[in-house]
Amino acid sequence: MCGIIGYIGHRRSQDVLFDGLRRLEYRGYDSAGVAWRENGRTECVRAIGNLDSLGLALAAHSAGAGASESPAVATATVSAGIAHTRWATHGGVTEHNAHPHADWSGRVRIVLNGIIENYLELRDLLAVKMIQCSSETDAEVVAQLISYYYDGDLSEAVRRTVDVLSGHFAFVAMCEDEPQTLVGVRQECPLVVGIGDNELFIASSISAFVEHTRRVVVLHDGEVVIMRAWGLTVCDGGGFPRLPEETRVEWDEDRCEKDGFETFMLKEIHEQPSAIAETLRQARATLDPGAHHRLGLAELRNIRRMIIVGCGTSYHAALAGRMAIERWARVPVEVDVASEFRYRGPIIEPGTLVLGITQSGETADTLAAMRLARAQGATVVALTNAPGSQATRDADTVLFTRAGLEIGVAATKTFIAQVVLLYALALNLARARDALSPARLAELERDLDLLPDRVGQVIESADGPMRQLAERLVWSPFFLYLGRLSGLPVALEGALKLKEISYVPTDAYAAGEMKHGPIALLGRDTPVVCVATEEAVLPKLLSNVSEVRARGARVLAIASEGCKQIAEHAEHVVYVPPTDSLLQVALAIVPLQLFAYHLARARGLNVDQPRNLAKTVTVE
Ligand code: F6R
Repeated sequence: MCGIIGYIGHRRSQDVLFDGLRRLEYRGYDSAGVAWRENGRTECVRAIGNLDSLGLALAAHSAGAGASESPAVATATVSAGIAHTRWATHGGVTEHNAHPHADWSGRVRIVLNGIIENYLELRDLLAVKMIQCSSETDAEVVAQLISYYYDGDLSEAVRRTVDVLSGHFAFVAMCEDEPQTLVGVRQECPLVVGIGDNELFIASSISAFVEHTRRVVVLHDGEVVIMRAWGLTVCDGGGFPRLPEETRVEWDEDRCEKDGFETFMLKEIHEQPSAIAETLRQARATLDPGAHHRLGLAELRNIRRMIIVGCGTSYHAALAGRMAIERWARVPVEVDVASEFRYRGPIIEPGTLVLGITQSGETADTLAAMRLARAQGATVVALTNAPGSQATRDADTVLFTRAGLEIGVAATKTFIAQVVLLYALALNLARARDALSPARLAELERDLDLLPDRVGQVIESADGPMRQLAERLVWSPFFLYLGRLSGLPVALEGALKLKEISYVPTDAYAAGEMKHGPIALLGRDTPVVCVATEEAVLPKLLSNVSEVRARGARVLAIASEGCKQIAEHAEHVVYVPPTDSLLQVALAIVPLQLFAYHLARARGLNVDQPRNLAKTVTVE
């Protein structure tokens, strides 16, 4: 996810901004840049790669300009600037596409997070006015528009620009003609203002400026903030000012980095609604069957078979994806663990599409499986969360999840984003191949759009009960997870979360398999977690649950609201909102992530960095 910081005050803004970017580094980025006022003009330096590259570029710029290299000297005059870390969405990772972006004259500069959905349309409108954009980004369109509307009042030009934008975004603008003003806008992306001693900060996260001030004004959607050296004004979209409500943040710096959560894992669980929403937006933009890339209409129609490969959590997402692709699009799908696929001499026929799922884009087995498939003539698609990763270079086409950087070692928001992207792909396939009626397609699209809210509801409602349950079961020596159909990937993934962060022996099975051996493991009070969200096989699952109860085991069930029978069979039931049974995967996994999280915490463990685990497995 991109990061924004802006500053206006008495310090050298270039230094404050660079430090702020360092504090946003954890969010992930592939390029960065700073624009600041110096000696009566605006300077701008951008670089691809990490902040060390930007630091070198800034040093080279200072040397070239003959400016003093002494760090952080207080200046008598007001110093203002904006800075950004970019994670490429529109246009490749190049210095030219990095922020800040300027209008054609260099008078207006902006840094922007989010996506401007109608930027192509706006670019065409600007072209009619003889204004050409020079980068591939949506952000530059915003700078050009502000300049076009500018008539001596930056805030007014920003407001007029916002009126013609659609999408979700936050940006901060500065203008040569108003050197002591910054204007920020928030529209469904975070933006907060920090009030210091005769200085103001604006950023996408409090962590960017918390070392300087703890006095914070949170902006609401549609609001515009005008920051001047002598104070700030917050206005609604119509330009009417409101009294800025100041709050004091008491978190320590470490906690600020986690947006107030006690761990990255918990923060990332809570970020799942936005990971889904962002991924769906991106999918809609890139998966259009009429579009450009190698998954256009003709390719989608001609696919005869799919093979999906991945490891760990990504493999579980593949299992959920297979069900959607087969059920909705009627394309046969095989799923394999990448480390098995690459050694088993797989048969790849013409018309086979191989999809490699890897959130990091760097897992050795998945990369090797993709290369093997490509060498045998398959079209290879990478599904990843990491722009610029090896998987993006090894594939014919890339589908991106937009979960933002995941720091906790246990995959949570990247899993849910992978599942949702596979659903979007399945619906596109179904549409291209006329495999579903328009009414059914529309219904599923609607349900998919409701997922972010529903996942948010589950996080809220399940957190407390899961904490209590985890505290009760904290020293259980063994857990069994069971599921059928779409409940199976949830059971497998829930069990993986528990074992990797709690170190509790855990097994997961297709519920119908239980009587073929694993039932021997059940004793009095063994906790058994049943995912009972697939209506089609509910009676079957209930009969499995009865077998479990007959052994004296304790059943915790995840079920859809309205499912009455389950309460008679299970000791604890966590209900999730009803939706299509496949989409339930995204809801049912949430209580299990929370359960694993709270159980590990109750055992006093560090969930962000479990022993023996690294976030990316690149070694052979
Ligand atoms: C589990 C987890 C791992 C990864 C696996 C594959 O929480 O994070 O099981 O899912 O190592 O990683 P990627 O998706 O990066 O290929």
